[in-house]
Amino acid sequence: MAVPLLDLKAQYATIRDDVVAAMMRVVDDQTFILGPQVKELEDKVAELSNTKFAIGCASGTDALLLAMKALDIGPGDEVITTPFTFFATAGTIHNVGAKPVFVDIDPDTFNILPQAAAAAVNSRTKAVMPVDLFGQMAAMDAIMTAIQDVPVIEDAAQAIGATREIGGRTVRAGEVATIGTFSFFPSKNLGGYGDGGMMVTQDETLATRLMRLRVHGGLKTYFHDEVGFNSRLDSLQAAVLLAKLPHLEKWSAARRRNAAYYDAAFADMDEVRTPYVDPHNVSIYNQYTIRAKRRDELQAHLKEKGIGHSVYYPLPLHLQPCFKYLEYREGECPESERAAKEVVSLPIYPELTEAQLDEVAGAVRQFYGH
Ligand SMILES: Cc1ncc(COP(=O)(O)O)c(C=O)c1O
Repeated sequence: MAVPLLDLKAQYATIRDDVVAAMMRVVDDQTFILGPQVKELEDKVAELSNTKFAIGCASGTDALLLAMKALDIGPGDEVITTPFTFFATAGTIHNVGAKPVFVDIDPDTFNILPQAAAAAVNSRTKAVMPVDLFGQMAAMDAIMTAIQDVPVIEDAAQAIGATREIGGRTVRAGEVATIGTFSFFPSKNLGGYGDGGMMVTQDETLATRLMRLRVHGGLKTYFHDEVGFNSRLDSLQAAVLLAKLPHLEKWSAARRRNAAYYDAAFADMDEVRTPYVDPHNVSIYNQYTIRAKRRDELQAHLKEKGIGHSVYYPLPLHLQPCFKYLEYREGECPESERAAKEVVSLPIYPELTEAQLDEVAGAVRQFYGH
């Protein structure tokens, strides 16, 4: 039996009537740009994230870009981040004119090492950008203690609704950062039917600036305090996301159940290292990413068996051709480089059946002769 890496149609089948009705309301009202659905979704995401403000925008990439603009980051500035992440994290730093500074990851969680981030801070540093990779929050407490007053942009594109215990309190993805960012790319736990993104913050001044930056830099039509962008969350996307939001908790819990299923299925194997979740964290498992011996051969075996899989990410960002000008060399972020050679992500989406989970686990076990 073939099992896809992600089956968006399986989820759509369970919510079709609600989503179509929500989309048709926008069409009937013809309120396509910043309609009431956008504000409603912003309020709900702020509530979910324990933040005072949430501001929709066109994508998770733009959310990072706007966040840096709101913090006046530009040429001559440095932003510290991880090289083991989706390209947008560092691409946006480059695109605001700043310099991405890459530091290595914790080999257990794949998230940025707080001490390494702190060691890279200098007078040009304008922000640290941790990523909540694969749905697990970065060690925000340790990072923020280590870097002191430096602003933090938490790239929570993959982690909406993830939590971490900090000082006896349950903190949400995006909550304690200067600005947190989300993506509603269709493959995310809360995915739209196209691109979409959101920024969250506790700071009213930053929230106002972000709202202004997404509409050409002026909140009063045709009056521009600064040069901004056209980066709005579409009302149609907001309507889809509002229809999906009540299911998010349940879907993320189903992903955790699937993860536990695989963890148990691989528990006796030396060849597979199952994902490590810090005991302070609750992951939303946007990906279930193992480290596998003979990874490339395993991939070929999974392909032959029709088991969907993907390597996130095969080449760390400090070694990407486009960042040659930064003059990083192989060996400078050894854990990121090792992870890139060892990781492979398996199907984890909520609608997987037990038979499908068995098929995936069985194919992996079979490859290693178990
Ligand atoms: C870690 C990370 N950052 C940023 C992004 C960019 O989000 P988007 O695709 O919505 O622009 C993504 C998602 O694709 C991501 O996974």
